[in-house]
Amino acid sequence: MEEYHICGGKPLYGTVKIHGAKNSALPILAATLVTGGRCVIRNCPEITDVDAAMDILRHLGCEATRIGQEVVVDTTKANRWDIPTPLMQAMRGAVIFLGALIARFGAAEITLPGGCPLGARPIDFHLAGLGRMGATIIASDQQILCNLQQPEECTIALPFPSVGATENLLLGALRCRGRVVICNAAKEPEIDDLIGFLRTCGADISGCGTSVLQIKGGKTLYPGSYTVMPDRMEAASYLAAGAATRGELLLKDLRTDHLTAVTEVLCRMGCQVQQTEKEIYLKCRKLTAAGAIHTAPYDGFPTDAQAPLMAAAAVAKGVTVIEETIFSDRFRHVPALRRMGAKIYAAKRCAVVDGVTKLQGARVNATDLRGGAAMVIAGLCAEGESQVGCIEHIERGYSHFVETLRSCGAQIERRTDTDGTKRKTEKAATAYLPCSSGCGTAPY
Ligand code: UD1
Repeated sequence: MEEYHICGGKPLYGTVKIHGAKNSALPILAATLVTGGRCVIRNCPEITDVDAAMDILRHLGCEATRIGQEVVVDTTKANRWDIPTPLMQAMRGAVIFLGALIARFGAAEITLPGGCPLGARPIDFHLAGLGRMGATIIASDQQILCNLQQPEECTIALPFPSVGATENLLLGALRCRGRVVICNAAKEPEIDDLIGFLRTCGADISGCGTSVLQIKGGKTLYPGSYTVMPDRMEAASYLAAGAATRGELLLKDLRTDHLTAVTEVLCRMGCQVQQTEKEIYLKCRKLTAAGAIHTAPYDGFPTDAQAPLMAAAAVAKGVTVIEETIFSDRFRHVPALRRMGAKIYAAKRCAVVDGVTKLQGARVNATDLRGGAAMVIAGLCAEGESQVGCIEHIERGYSHFVETLRSCGAQIERRTDTDGTKRKTEKAATAYLPCSSGCGTAPY
């Protein structure tokens, strides 16, 4: 059992180089299947989710090797279209292999994907969209069998701009002879990056960056080399850490235009933010409450930045109200932050954060990827020592996390939990205070 030990209370000072985006790398790795050849994917983050994607590719008969941030995938000999449960359960991104397998073989046998527990995460939009293309689908709790042998031109209207469904349908549409139109498609930059890779390989896709995508399928794609875009969620997490610790950070190698909603909130909180196209400099001395934050599809405030920003709001002067509109259960980090002294009253999709002057170190367990990052941020600005367990959640998505934080002066170490203590997640009901805005009754 590994965990992070943090001695908090020190501002972060330094330069952080942002790695490649997890949520781009995963669909791009899946998409290499469609090319039937050798692809070189650069700027792939060194995280366990990428390892999991490479395991799936190997299971399917592909060769996948990594040297640092470069992953070479040869999908020439891919010879199967089933993915067993343990490989599917390793991460949410595994679901994008559904569309990739359909595009390559016209068939897929998968089970439901794993990933962070954020409430219900159905894949009904993915399946309904593939059904519109003419796929026959047999779905049970145990297995999803999908066949698309005679694909049809069609228009698909997504009920919600789901990122995963857009990616799966983009890939599935490559098999269709004729045009597939996806309306109300997700506009997240990671979708543009997937389209960028597919175009490099010869795909005919228009509407990039808009909510209407048109795919002219039926073309044979060729293998290509591609560089994954920078991770805007990694950047948002370091910005939140810089703000929470009253530090001074220069973030390099990112796309500042992808982070507008986040930097706008940080400016509202009193941070000094200067940016060029690829760099953000953040300096924070005093932190004030952000007012209201609502998560929303791109280019709104990203749900993946909600937990890290909540950690900063926990030590900002005043009250911040956070509404989570994307996922039904994305406040699982709240009990841990409360254990560290944060005053947060959360129910259902609304959290009221009443900033305190100081947090205190505590022993907590990461509940999910971004929630775990929020706990580390809280630990970095808390007085005394914190231990964050269940770090496998965090290491699914942050490359060289400890080294990067240490290079900015953080006292954080990755250690083995030698005393073998079975730490339990804090009981939800402790010290519950009702939400003053009356936004629900079920407390965290
Ligand atoms: C992706 C990201 C995740 C991010 C999320 C929203 C990856 C690997 N993960 O997740 O980090 O937080 O986008 O930006 O890229 N929904 C349905 N039916 C469906 C599909 C989605 O009801 O078939 C609902 C979900 O339950 C959720 C909402 O739509 O409430 C958004 O989900 P979606 O955009 O699909 O998120 P993911 O692709 O799972």
